[in-house]
Amino acid sequence: MSLGSITRHQVKIIDTGEVYTCAKSQHLLKGMVSLGKRGIPSGCHGGGCGVCKVRITRGEYITKVMSRDYVTADEEAEGIVLACRTFPRSNVSLEVIGKLAKNVLRPSVKKKYGFV
Ligand code: FES
Repeated sequence: MSLGSITRHQVKIIDTGEVYTCAKSQHLLKGMVSLGKRGIPSGCHGGGCGVCKVRITRGEYITKVMSRDYVTADEEAEGIVLACRTFPRSNVSLEVIGKLAKNVLRPSVKKKYGFV
């Protein structure tokens, strides 16, 4: 999808069915934070803590350098990436794994209080 000169893609979180929009210049974690989930890790956003691991199951993406301390070569070959180091190049579907799953899979604050 393109709005003006900014190319945006749809990102689907398979675990919850939620979809958010992510510009090609934004990493996947940034859009996820906009869903209003409490506890989404937002202190690092630079590949330095490893909590934002996701598995891309569909779509094209690019990544910035990811530490092998957090994503092994085998994991990367399976589509496992750090969301804060990954940028969509098409619509993407992903599964949340690891520490991120606990926070993403709880109901959003907006949904919990009936604002959605
Ligand atoms: S938020 Fe720390 S590695 Fe992604």
